[in-house]
Amino acid sequence: MSADEPTSPDEAPVDTPITEAAVDDQVTTADVAETVVSDDLDVVQPVLRAEHLVGGYVPEVDILRGCDLTAADGEIVVVVGPNGAGKSTLIKAIFGLITPREGRVYLRDADITGTPANRINGLGMSYVPQVNNVFPSLTIHENLQMGAAKRRKGMDARIEEMYELFPRLRERRRNRAEGLSGGERQMLAVARALMPQPSVLLLDEPSAGLAPKAVAEVFETVKRVNDSGVTIVMIEQNARAALAIANRGYVLEGGQNRFTGRGVDLLNDPHVAELYLGGAAD
Ligand SMILES: Nc1ncnc2c1ncn2[C@@H]1O[C@H](COP(=O)(O)OP(=O)(O)O)[C@@H](O)[C@H]1O
Ligand SMILES: [Mg+2]
Repeated sequence: MSADEPTSPDEAPVDTPITEAAVDDQVTTADVAETVVSDDLDVVQPVLRAEHLVGGYVPEVDILRGCDLTAADGEIVVVVGPNGAGKSTLIKAIFGLITPREGRVYLRDADITGTPANRINGLGMSYVPQVNNVFPSLTIHENLQMGAAKRRKGMDARIEEMYELFPRLRERRRNRAEGLSGGERQMLAVARALMPQPSVLLLDEPSAGLAPKAVAEVFETVKRVNDSGVTIVMIEQNARAALAIANRGYVLEGGQNRFTGRGVDLLNDPHVAELYLGGAAD
């Protein structure tokens, strides 16, 4: 994969407004300038940085067309955008499940571009896919053991920490994962991903398909994990609720960044609200 000197055609001025014409262009493959709605979001030492990612699943079809994402230590970073925008693909490129054709991914100081997922897991970053993220026929306890992979040393103590963080999982430790509610299952998936003690956790739509009460539980879970010191990068369809807890948010469309800012600034941005949040909040 040649990623030296990526050409960067879309270094747009940060305050370029999105015009009507440009918005129309989003449905085609035209490049649209990224709008940065918060002016002081830069970080000197990001824990995770993806720069100008280009790539996809088959040769010559670029799903990502120059995506950037930054997470500072301890942040909750939320990625929203319409179906098919490339959100899941972005996370997969960050986690080494696809190799970008252009661009770089850095985890702290390490360039991890193209590093396979199983190795990234050992470098301090975990990923919870949207589906198939627990073993249904195994017990909760066994799922957590699987999450430790080869790290047997300290495993029991780490499982104990997970039970402290999620008492509900302790209560059901001998039950099979298939018997859990949707919200509990996501809790288990998160706990499993936390077993290797990552500093960064990538979550792909953890609240998808859940009832409102379970959605709220998932957001509580995310906040609790973040409070324990883990940086979160989360894709969400529940865009308002997610942006409300986000230090940093991205609106992705057509494989490109459309809007970037603090979560609250995105929520309050009339263009973002109109285009991606179903109108202004009441
Ligand atoms: N495994 C795959 N193989 C080929 N194309 C895929 C695959 N997964 C997703 N795509 C395509 O990539 C585009 C972006 O998908 P995705 O990243 O899943 O979007 P989002 O998560 O924003 O809904 C879509 O056009 C989708 O059809
Ligand atoms: Mg997706």
